Order: sequence, then C-alpha cells, then structure tokens
Amino acid sequence: MRHVLSVTSECVPLIKTGGLADVAGALPGALSGHGWHMRTLLPAYPGLIKKAEARTVAYTFKALMGGPARVLAGTTGGIDVLLLDAPHLFDRPGGPYGNPTDFSDNPVRFAALSFAAAQIAEHGLTDGWRPQVVHAHDWQAGLTPTYLKIAGVHDVATVMTVHNIAFQGLAPAAMLGTMDLPLSEYTAEGLEYWGQISTLKAGLVDAGAITTVSPTYAAELMRSDFGMGLEGVMAARSDRLSGILNGIDMEVWDPAQDPLITPYSAASLKGKSANRKALIAEFGLSAVNGPLAIIVSRLTAQKGMDLVAATAAQFVEAGGALAILGSGDPQIEDQMRLLARNHPGKVGLRIGYDEALSHRMFGGGDVVLVPSRFEPCGLTQLYGLRYGTVPVVAATGGLADSVIHANVMARSSGVATGFQFHPVDEMALAHCLRDVIAQFSHKSGWTRMQKRGMKQALGWEASSAAYAALYENLTDECRRAT
Ligand code: ADP
Ligand code: GLC
Repeated sequence: MRHVLSVTSECVPLIKTGGLADVAGALPGALSGHGWHMRTLLPAYPGLIKKAEARTVAYTFKALMGGPARVLAGTTGGIDVLLLDAPHLFDRPGGPYGNPTDFSDNPVRFAALSFAAAQIAEHGLTDGWRPQVVHAHDWQAGLTPTYLKIAGVHDVATVMTVHNIAFQGLAPAAMLGTMDLPLSEYTAEGLEYWGQISTLKAGLVDAGAITTVSPTYAAELMRSDFGMGLEGVMAARSDRLSGILNGIDMEVWDPAQDPLITPYSAASLKGKSANRKALIAEFGLSAVNGPLAIIVSRLTAQKGMDLVAATAAQFVEAGGALAILGSGDPQIEDQMRLLARNHPGKVGLRIGYDEALSHRMFGGGDVVLVPSRFEPCGLTQLYGLRYGTVPVVAATGGLADSVIHANVMARSSGVATGFQFHPVDEMALAHCLRDVIAQFSHKSGWTRMQKRGMKQALGWEASSAAYAALYENLTDECRRAT
C-alpha cells in the first residue's frame, strides 16, 4: 500500500457543511481499492475526538501558531482520521468556520492545519507512517504545498483540489508572520492576491497538480467569468489542471435500501408514489397534478435561489409544486418564506439542515431543481439521478457534465436523463420549467428517463481510478526529480 494524506476542514461522518465533507469522506474507501491508504487530517472541533475515539498520539507540536497541539489518530466509519488537537484554535462553540459569522482568526486556524499536514509529510507520524502524496482540499489546506516547499521537502507529491473558487482564504498581509510565512512568498507569482494573502492561490501556485471536481469547471476556471480573479493563475498552470467528477456514496444513496423511505428501484417505481404522497402531506401541499419539484440546497446566490423565487409563481400556476429545504443567506431565506406564504399548498418550505428529510425529498420528488450560477460539481443532481428524481439543472460545471439534456434528439434516441438550461437567468429557467411540465405529462417517456438515470454509474469507481493514476504520475515524477 502506498500512503496519501488528505487535508480537509470537513469530513463525513464527523463534520459537514457542504459537499466537500461528502467527498473527503468517500475518497479513503474508494482509493483503498487502488492500493492507496489514505489518512485524513482535520481539525479536532468540539466532540470529534470522542466521536472518532482518537486516543493515540500520532504527532506532537511544542507550539503551533500560538499554543500547544498534537495529532490524535482514530477511526470512524472506516476512515483513518488524524485530528489536529489544538484547543486554542479549534475548541470553541459554533460551526467549523464561525459562530454565526466567520472567526477572525480563520486564516491562522487553517494555516495551522496546513502547517501540521506539511510537518507530518516531512517527518512522518510516530507510528512510522509517512505519505508519498499530500492531497489538500480548498483554501483551508491551501498552504500545505507552500509549507513543504519552504521546508525544502521535495520527495512528497502534492495535489490541490478546488471545490469552490469563491472561497479563496484571504487574509491581510500583516498576518504573514502569525501564519509562519516569509515575506519572500508574498509576491504576485506567489501567494499575494490584490494586496492580500490568498491561501488558495498559494496552493494553486505550489502544488504539483491542481484538480477540480468536474471537467467543465476545470475549463471554466480559466475564464474571467468563473475564475474570480484566479483565472490567470489557472490558465498559467493549465498543463497541471484537470477535472475529476465527484461520485456519490451508492450505499447511503440507494432507493432500494434506504431505510428513510419506502424502497423502490428502477424495476418498479411503485414505492416512489408512496413517498411522493407522504412528501406532499409532510410539506402541507394540496393535490399536485404536475411535477413536484424539490430543492435541497444552501440558500445562496451561487445556488441561483433568487431565480427560483422569480420563476416559482409561473411554475406553480402551470400545475407544478415546490418543496424546499435549505438555509443560508438571511435575505434569500426571507424571499423563500415570502414565496411559501404567497403560494400556500403549492410551495412548502423548511428552513434548516435535515439529512433525513433530504432523503424523503429525493424519495418523493419528481424533479430536483439545481439552478446554480456556478457549480464545481454538485451532488444533489446525482442523488436525483439515483432516486429517479429527474434533475433540472443550469448548464454549468459538474451539472453540465452529469445530466444529459432532454432535447428532441436526446429524447428520440433514448439517452436523456434530465434538463439543462442556459443562460442561467429567469427567462431560460422559466422556459425550461415549461418544458419540464410538458414532458412530465408524457408518462411513458418520463418513466423511461427516470429509469435511465437510476441505472447510471454514479459511484466513485471512475473518479478514484483517476485520482490514483494522478497520484502515481506525481510520485513517479518526484522519484525522478530527487
Ligand atoms: P455545496 O457543497 O456547494 O453546498 P453540493 O451539492 O456539492 O453543494 O453538496 C451539498 C450537500 O449538502 C449535499 O449532500 C446536499 O444533500 C446537502 N445539503 C445541502 N443543504 C441541505 C439541507 N438543508 N439539509 C440536508 N442536506 C443538505
Ligand atoms: C463545493 C462545490 C460543489 C461540490 C462540492 C464537493 O462545495 O460548491 O459543487 O460538489 O464542493 O466537491
């Protein structure tokens, strides 16, 4: 077995705010089949040490960015986790990033995570385990390749995965010292970004390879309308950039085995009708003749939720209904409340985060709506495919890569799995939803489309093979260079 250290701020089943946690939680299992043993380093937020029964001290720091710290090894849900126990940074109430807004010392907290990762990669753990590859996720782990470079460590390969370019790990230049970074790194070719530090840019510049979570997003990242200022860096490193589409956990998300719903499969969708009926009752909707659309999402502008607010009236007047689960931007939450109030019995809303309810929604919905302005990969359209809940998505990023649009050609040749709309605006969404309502009334064609999606290979097989191949290429390269 070869060794890879994954560095992340979230990981299912320990802590999750978004899809990053799902991906970090799925990779170790998926990679073990390819001969890679992954250990996952993440902060010891409150309660995690107990949850993972992490008792073995695997590394000790006398001081790590302002306080004592150690790494505790444990196992949870089959994942070998390494928890960075640094109470001065991570033992505080609230979410992983703040309570309710971001903690002001986040740059230091996650610099510490990255620094710890680099130390482990350089020296190995007390049990002798040392990675050949470090795989850093998002800005929180972005400094890992940079710390390795500064330490002069060249025999460990590094991969930087971008799950979302909108979060860049910005910090005032005055924090360089506290983050243990020399002034020499603070250049336009280095981690300087418009007069600030960007920990994500650091990773993009210094990692041996950059990946993102879909091929389309990889191409989009080199464009000014998606790169959010980092398109130049992306383009400059295009020979090192690739897109590997995320998979989903095919066991957790399996309508035939899901204990939270009435089970069903592509062979018989009967159970789905029962789930639909239950969902309509749960959301207080009146009889729904047209498609029942669901949304399970962060309620933010990225996710196009304002477009939903703008087009929902037409959709429900034409016979559709909407069940929404999400939380996020207070303004968008209010917009959604107003929408539900204005369309009683047609639009149902739950503000909050509820994993079990999300399963019931995929079990009972006809359509899952994902109108994101940008979407690196997106997972809910994949759950939709798996559950016969036809995805209606914006044609961007991973959404474009995972749904085959039901235009006339795709329908007649029997390959369509959902609907895409473009550009991502109200008019295109409204037009698409009219098409959805029309297609929904052609029952046999609709059922065939549902079943086609349900039979797709949506797991981690192809993607984990791609990551393994990347790790192998990079370690070969390291070996040749050292
Ligand atoms: P992002 O990470 O950008 O939020 P993804 O689609 O990659 O988007 O992942 C979101 C994950 O979080 C999915 O697993 C989705 O089901 C879940 N999720 C989002 N909002 C909620 C919610 N309110 N309740 C339950 N699960 C949610
Ligand atoms: C980010 C992206 C989302 C992606 C997830 C996992 O949260 O916004 O599109 O699916 O990371 O890679």
